[in-house]
Amino acid sequence: MNVLVTGGTGILGRHVVMLLRQSGHRARILSRQPRGHVDAVQGDLRTGTGLTKAVGGMDVIIHAASATRETMSRRGTDLRGTRRLLAAAREANIRHVVYVSIAGIDRVSFGYYRTKLAAEAIVREGMVPWSILRATQFHRYVEILLTGFSRVPGVLAVPFAWKIQPVEAREVARRVVDIALGEPGGMLPDFGGPEIRDLESLARSWLAARKYRRRLINLWLPFEYSRQFAEGRLTTPEHKDGMMTFDQYLAEKYGQP
Ligand SMILES: NC(=O)c1ccc[n+]([C@@H]2O[C@H](COP(=O)([O-])OP(=O)(O)OC[C@H]3O[C@@H](n4cnc5c(N)ncnc54)[C@H](OP(=O)(O)O)[C@@H]3O)[C@@H](O)[C@H]2O)c1
Repeated sequence: MNVLVTGGTGILGRHVVMLLRQSGHRARILSRQPRGHVDAVQGDLRTGTGLTKAVGGMDVIIHAASATRETMSRRGTDLRGTRRLLAAAREANIRHVVYVSIAGIDRVSFGYYRTKLAAEAIVREGMVPWSILRATQFHRYVEILLTGFSRVPGVLAVPFAWKIQPVEAREVARRVVDIALGEPGGMLPDFGGPEIRDLESLARSWLAARKYRRRLINLWLPFEYSRQFAEGRLTTPEHKDGMMTFDQYLAEKYGQP
C-alpha cells in the first residue's frame, strides 16, 4: 500500500512511518522541512504548496499534521489545510483518509480543541472516504506540557487536579496503521492510555525520573477549560487500550529513578 503521512516528522507520525515501512508498505512524508527524511515531499498545508505532488500515486492518507505549537497558524494549517489536502486527495482518487484527533475535544472549551473539532467536521463532509481516531495525550506530550510549566527557576507549577490518561504514541501509531490498511470506518472508538492520573502525580514521577530538584506547587488557572480538565473530560475511561504506563515510559527513557 502507498500511504502519505502528513505530520510524518512528528511525535506520532514518525512511528507511523516506521511501522508502515517495517511491514513492507510505502510511507511518503509531507513536511515543510523534509531535509534528512527519506521519501519526503516538501509542502505546506497552510499555503497549499506541494500537496498535489504529495498525494500523487498514493492509495491512503494518514493525516497527522497539525499546528500543535504554532498557535497563530492553526486555522490555516488545520482547517484550510485539511480542506486543501482533501480536495487534492479527491482529485487523486485517494480511497481512504485517516484523521488523528484528540479524545474529549467535544467536552471542553479550549481553543485548539475547537479547531480540531472543526477539522473533524471537514473530514466528515466525506470528500474522501474517512476514518477518525481520537487518542488521549501522548507520553512525550505530557513531558512537553510539564516542561512548559517549568518556566520559573526551581519551581514546577502545575494544576494538580487535571486528569490525564497518557498513552504511548507507538501504540497509537500501531492502531492508526491498522486502520489505514483497513476499510474506512467513520468515527472510531477512542484510544486511551492504561491509567488515568492527576497532573500532580505525573509531575512527581517526571521530576523523579529526570532527577530534577524543583518545588512542586499547585497552579490555579482561572479558565473554564482548566476546571473541565480537572473533571476528567479529556479522559476516556472505557478505552484503556494502551499497555505502557507513564512510569514505564520514563523508566525506558531515563532509567529507574
Ligand atoms: N500530542 C498529543 O498528545 C496528541 C494526542 C492525541 C492526538 N494528537 C493529534 O495527533 C496528531 C499528531 O500530533 P503530534 O503531537 O505527533 O504532532 P507534533 O509532534 O507536534 O508534529 C506536528 C506535525 O505537523 C506537521 N505540520 C505542522 N504544520 C504543518 C504545515 N503547515 N504543513 C505541513 N505539515 C505541518 C509537522 O511537520 P513539519 O514540521 O515537518 O512540517 C509535524 O510533523 C495531531 O493531529 C494531534 O492533534 C496529539
